[in-house]
Amino acid sequence: AKSHMRSPLLGLNGVAAMKACYRRFDPAAYLQYNYTPPRADFTRKDSIVPWKLACLHRAFTEGDMSGELLVDIGSGPTLYQVMSGCEVFSKVLLTDFLEVNRQELRRWLQDEGQCSLDWTPYLQHVCKLEGRRPSAWTEKAAKLRQVVADILPIDVHCSQPLAPDALPLAGADCLVSCFCLESVSPDLAAFTRALGHIGKLLRPGGHLMLIGALGESYYFAGPGVRIPVVPLNEAQVCTSLKESGYTLIRLEVYTLTQDMRVGVDDVTGVFFVKAKKD
Ligand SMILES: C[S@@+](CC[C@H](N)C(=O)[O-])C[C@H]1O[C@@H](n2cnc3c(N)ncnc32)[C@H](O)[C@@H]1O
Repeated sequence: AKSHMRSPLLGLNGVAAMKACYRRFDPAAYLQYNYTPPRADFTRKDSIVPWKLACLHRAFTEGDMSGELLVDIGSGPTLYQVMSGCEVFSKVLLTDFLEVNRQELRRWLQDEGQCSLDWTPYLQHVCKLEGRRPSAWTEKAAKLRQVVADILPIDVHCSQPLAPDALPLAGADCLVSCFCLESVSPDLAAFTRALGHIGKLLRPGGHLMLIGALGESYYFAGPGVRIPVVPLNEAQVCTSLKESGYTLIRLEVYTLTQDMRVGVDDVTGVFFVKAKKD
């Protein structure tokens, strides 16, 4: 009885503690740690970022996508996760908890001022995946700037993560979310609840593309900014999806090679999930 009484309170404190950790999130450092070589080496097939881009490209071009609205949950300061989807959906919403990250995204979208990362090699790589010449990247950049309609605040720990009028009543046609839920949740229960919360933003039959860390207990989001992560395994990801009202279509796993373990986290693998809301 005692543990039953205590757990909800601990859960709340855990969520508050996670939010406090994010006050020191440094977008430029985070981009440097995770989105430059060796993790983003486009000359290698076994680098993390090309693997993620290939998964997203395949998932968005399989022919089972429909509708207009794609919502990215917990975008952070990154854009790679919508570079395939922006060709399939006519409207894309980016979201993040932190103003510093929304600001970073705005700087790229408005194409003025200093961006912390050059997304050109990413755009070129996705053009190649799409069978276009790499020089088509300028057109893809224009397309992305055209379809991103807004950058909104979000909190996946709220049962209503976005402002009430942010989405059409029917919900989004597709969600993408990368490395967000496990790195903002204090435990597996909170991760599963967050998966349920974002599911409310999705129309029945809509797709979820979920990318995340396996076996990770922390990552650095700046010098000395150590953020705890819920260490997940494949079975837990599958169970959480089922409990939250999704049917799994595909799960793919990438295992980090030794040289991808660069000391900015203790991640051992990455999962890619394509699922459908029941
Ligand atoms: C590890 S980063 C992932 C960023 C990006 N999606 C990527 O693939 O690299 C986690 C993101 O979750 C955001 N975040 C923190 N607390 C959140 C919350 N309660 N709800 C939604 N997002 C949150 C952070 O600001 C950060 O951008």
